Amino acid sequence: MAPSVAIILAAGKGTRMKSRRPKVLHALAGRPMVLHVLDAARRARFGRAVVVIGPGMDEVGRAVAPAEVAVQSEQLGTGHAVLQARAALKGFSGDAAVLFADTPLLTPQTLRRVMAARRLGAAIAVLGFEPRDPGAYGRLVLAKDGALEAIVEYKDASAAERAIGLCNSGVMAVDARLLFDLLGRVKNDNAKGEYYLTDIVALARRRGLRCVVVRAPKDELMGVNSRIELAAAEEAVQNRLRRKAMANGASLADPATTYFTHDTKLGRDVAVGPNVVFGPGVTVGDNVEIRAHCHIEGARIASDAVIGPFARLRPGAVVGRGAHVGNFVELKQATLEAGAKANHLSYLGDAHIGAGANIGAGTITCNYDGYLKSRTEIGARAFIGSNSALVAPVRIGAGAIVGAGSVITKDVPAGALAVERAEQRVVKGFARAFRARKAAEKVLRPPAASKNPGASKNPGARRVRGKSKNKDR
Ligand code: UD1
Ligand code: MG
Repeated sequence: MAPSVAIILAAGKGTRMKSRRPKVLHALAGRPMVLHVLDAARRARFGRAVVVIGPGMDEVGRAVAPAEVAVQSEQLGTGHAVLQARAALKGFSGDAAVLFADTPLLTPQTLRRVMAARRLGAAIAVLGFEPRDPGAYGRLVLAKDGALEAIVEYKDASAAERAIGLCNSGVMAVDARLLFDLLGRVKNDNAKGEYYLTDIVALARRRGLRCVVVRAPKDELMGVNSRIELAAAEEAVQNRLRRKAMANGASLADPATTYFTHDTKLGRDVAVGPNVVFGPGVTVGDNVEIRAHCHIEGARIASDAVIGPFARLRPGAVVGRGAHVGNFVELKQATLEAGAKANHLSYLGDAHIGAGANIGAGTITCNYDGYLKSRTEIGARAFIGSNSALVAPVRIGAGAIVGAGSVITKDVPAGALAVERAEQRVVKGFARAFRARKAAEKVLRPPAASKNPGASKNPGARRVRGKSKNKDR
């Protein structure tokens, strides 16, 4: 097959986004729009891509690397924009597809169909669609035999042409040399005073070349020009990712409330509860249960693990096979080896927790002293009692036990017990004497401590008797 290049137009200012960031860098499912388009081109087996950007859009250039970049210094229209890729493609022979960076829902399948139609003998294949409201889209004018005669821009169209429902998506496939040859002849004597890419169809027809329309579903060709359209596109992308996850063998309890990033990887028989957010860089093994209300990013979760409800896995979290991370547990740069459990109310950061270890409720790794981060190492099968603070750097040996409520600042050898807290005092008879003293001082007992709660006319009050008067009664 001849080589093919994707020319992606991204030089528009995107003023309707009301943003300092170039429009095409606004993200869908955690990835800039322009990269969605590049990815579609890559999956459709384009060997090359040239992205046309505006002046001062270096950030876009960096985002699309290693794709080539051409700069359009003045925005004189889509035809003029495509011409800026000419120098980069000097000597290139093969097909070119023109794509718009702000039309990010285009699928590789549809892109392949346009390229195939071109190879089947059309000089130009244009992707057309029938939107619910054709609005200001360019209209596709067909001949009797269904071939494409011309594309007429809305502002230049007659009433009869505006009545056409079939619209130009902007995507077209054409031999690269023919493309640049025709574009060199395009003029700007039109309503907008721009060099229209769309004019190459009429120019090709004048040479007797055949042009065709490939129709595509309208939801792939939605353009993003505002934040409202961005949100609509995000919903469409999320729905695709949800369907893909389910098709690959994951169960989503309430798909509409599962949020994915473009790179989320789920294994087979993963069960995801309601309201789960997958941020970037998450890989989940087979048979993992992710219960409701979890927020997970930059994490690797091995098979058979149980996460949540209400767990937070931050970048660098690694959960081993069959390990448990329970409610209100946060992991950051922390590994929980196979079968280890941290089931309640913990912060584990910059830590390594050995296989089968048990982390009691409320355990905190104190990893930051205000200047430096330090590591906590917990050996296999160690048992950390509830409400312990492990002040890093510190190591707890394999099988060791830390008594509840300890603040551990020194290493604990394997198999040892470490307990750090004031010894408990027991004062016999203290309670009765204490209550007698309070009675003599005429202080009311709080209702929970009262022997006969119904007897108190003024529950909850701890005032001296005689002075309490409730004016509301
Ligand atoms: C264009 C088409 C129209 C089609 C519509 C589909 C033309 C003349 N018109 O109109 O037929 O129905 O898209 O959405 O092609 N761009 C540049 N440099 C420029 C001008 C535009 O890079 O000088 C880029 C924009 O960033 C954008 C794309 O080209 O990605 C389309 O430009 P836009 O101005 O939105 O074209 P439309 O008027 O929507
Ligand atoms: Mg547009």
